[in-house]
Amino acid sequence: MQHLTNKRVLLGVTGSIAAYKAADVIRRLRDAGAEVKVVMTDGAKAFVTPLTFQALSASPVYENLLDKEAEAAMGHIELARWADVILIAPASANSLASLAQGRADELLNAICLASDVPLAVAPAMNKHMWADPATQDNVRLLAQRGVLFIGPDSGEQACGDIGEGRMIDSETIISRIAELFSVGSLSGLTVVITAGPTREALDPVRYLSNHSSGKMGYAIAEAAVEAGAKVILVSGPVSLESPDRVQRINVESAADMEAVVKEQVGAADIFVATAAVADYRPVTVQQDKIKKKEERLTIELEKNTDILATVKAEYTKTFCVGFAAETQNVETYARTKLEQKNIEMIVANLVGPLAKKTAGTFNSDLNELNVYWQGGEVKLELASKTKLARQLIALISQRFSLYKTNTDNKNNIISLKSH
Ligand code: PMT
Repeated sequence: MQHLTNKRVLLGVTGSIAAYKAADVIRRLRDAGAEVKVVMTDGAKAFVTPLTFQALSASPVYENLLDKEAEAAMGHIELARWADVILIAPASANSLASLAQGRADELLNAICLASDVPLAVAPAMNKHMWADPATQDNVRLLAQRGVLFIGPDSGEQACGDIGEGRMIDSETIISRIAELFSVGSLSGLTVVITAGPTREALDPVRYLSNHSSGKMGYAIAEAAVEAGAKVILVSGPVSLESPDRVQRINVESAADMEAVVKEQVGAADIFVATAAVADYRPVTVQQDKIKKKEERLTIELEKNTDILATVKAEYTKTFCVGFAAETQNVETYARTKLEQKNIEMIVANLVGPLAKKTAGTFNSDLNELNVYWQGGEVKLELASKTKLARQLIALISQRFSLYKTNTDNKNNIISLKSH
């Protein structure tokens, strides 16, 4: 039996003839140890009464967006905070369209928008509705945003048609949900992540730095832990709490960061350089506070070592992911860094005045990312850094397995030749 002990599953039931199958999903989720709360759309209530699901889940069923019973009158926020995972089963064509559009007109949609936890859907609809280009566009968009699709199955449908669109069996649904919490995609791997800014001292009281808050890097560390990795977080000065189960090493300057990364990265399978490392440092750090005298003060700077490029050159087998914060020409600059640093992947984000209009990037809770690698790219749409970090880790683990297969094959060819 799959284990979901203590996991909180928010089950959304939408308007489909398969709504009655949600009863079996609830029973199996509870058998697996999960706590279940059910949210029904108006469409779902046309097929099954809330009382059925209330009895099976041993919890009230939630139906209304504007619920005066909810603490602070914000039921959608409370439920979004409560859940470890949101499962929509059955997910009708209409519910997929609403999710793709980011609508908040029903309680279930509003919860999905307000939540950062994984979202899984088990579609159920007539085969023509499933195959329709509009539905398929929605499916692609949602999958790209990290929504997990479970099914649909193919076979005889309630309307008499035969084809793809039936809700998949509840056993498969429970097992895919359990997988989300079991062995992660980075299980057994060590990941070194840099985060935050560096500070380059000018004198004992002043330094050169930047606006990085560490939020992006910390979210990636958290997502990597969730995916089963051992995570070493090399952090510049930030005011964030350490994520659970992460080994954090604090540093100040780029040179400190370089030294710690070099100590740690030998054991790493993956290196993710999220930190905004100062490119230059003052040639001389004054022993005493610089006094205000002349009208103009010139400070001579020298280049810091490029930590990422050095790691890749020394540890050629480590899968290296860089970040590029750009104010313009994002793709061109990011791809140039991908080549120059000879790394496997680069994650670009916009900073500066253009970014302020949407994500903000530095210190913001939101971001949008363009990920590039040799011969490929993916856009991760505007979302919370937590959500983006999970999507990014999923992508890194996919690219890492391909990379491992390719490098292992190359090594086999070399060792065969040497015999
Ligand atoms: O911390 P937040 O407020 O959440 O903001 C997140 C962020 C904007 C800082 C982050 O998403 C980001 O883009 N980080 C990299 C910013 C950056 O400095 O990029 P860069 O183009 O200067 O550097 C390119 C890559 O080389 C980066 O992976 C950087 O870590 C690395 N580098 C740079 C200089 C150097 N001396 N050593 C390095 O390893």
